[in-house]
Amino acid sequence: MPPRLLSGKDLSEKILASLKPKVKKLDPRLVIVQVGDEPASTTYIRKKKEACESIGMRCDLMKLKASTSFKVLIKTIRALNDDADVTGYIIQLPLPGALHENEPQLFREIDPYKDVDGFTAYNLGKMFISSEFEHLPPATPAGIIELLSDAGIKIEGKCAVVVGQSNIVGKPIATMLLNRNATVIQCHKFTENLAQYTKQADILIVAVGKPNLITSEMVKKGVVVIDVGINTVKGKIVGDVDYDEVSKFAGAITPVPGGVGPLTVACLLRNCVRAKERQIDRKS
Ligand code: GUN
Repeated sequence: MPPRLLSGKDLSEKILASLKPKVKKLDPRLVIVQVGDEPASTTYIRKKKEACESIGMRCDLMKLKASTSFKVLIKTIRALNDDADVTGYIIQLPLPGALHENEPQLFREIDPYKDVDGFTAYNLGKMFISSEFEHLPPATPAGIIELLSDAGIKIEGKCAVVVGQSNIVGKPIATMLLNRNATVIQCHKFTENLAQYTKQADILIVAVGKPNLITSEMVKKGVVVIDVGINTVKGKIVGDVDYDEVSKFAGAITPVPGGVGPLTVACLLRNCVRAKERQIDRKS
């Protein structure tokens, strides 16, 4: 039997449609800061802008030169914090050159109430308490949870194997799965004998950025596979999972593209609406 296809497209449209009346009422404004001209970032930003347009959300792109200094970027962040007409903002990653190493210092400057990416220590730290405190979760992990929940896939008690340890996907999705009572195994690029762990997965989440990392010998029958990878191979977008082969064993699987990607965008916009609601609550 072919696996169930977990498409993020329809669900992301459902989430976006649910945001529309709130956007009309609250009129939030998102600002996207792009440093440099990385083509993949330009594509992601275009998708974020298009999604905002589709629900009438204000969205502005602030483009800075790749040569922008740490000092200037800090000044930019502080100005965004102080601008009452900016609900939320994101610094599109990856940052070019030396700025990349300065990410922790830069994120420390972001007002947690405007941190719609959920990357600040405050918002990440709150996630450790429980799912009730996931107020502004990082968008990709939030999208994965939505996808599993919408498909009626049980998390509690299941073995969830996360391959990847990034601050924006691997670590927060492991925390969110743990908050929902999964037994979580966290693997990464240094894990020895990766297959030993992935074979145990009821739910396998892969976010490494390595095409064909997961092959059919590494999974058990009926596994739910969430492929977060976005790689270009011979001009084609592929994930981290050998889709054709792993599909023969999986119970459910995300396509790439069209799986988690659209949900990341929808959950970012949802965070922007939530940020506005929380800012209003804080003032009242
Ligand atoms: N680059 C890849 N994914 C993301 C994301 O979710 N947020 C930001 N700011 N940059 C990214």
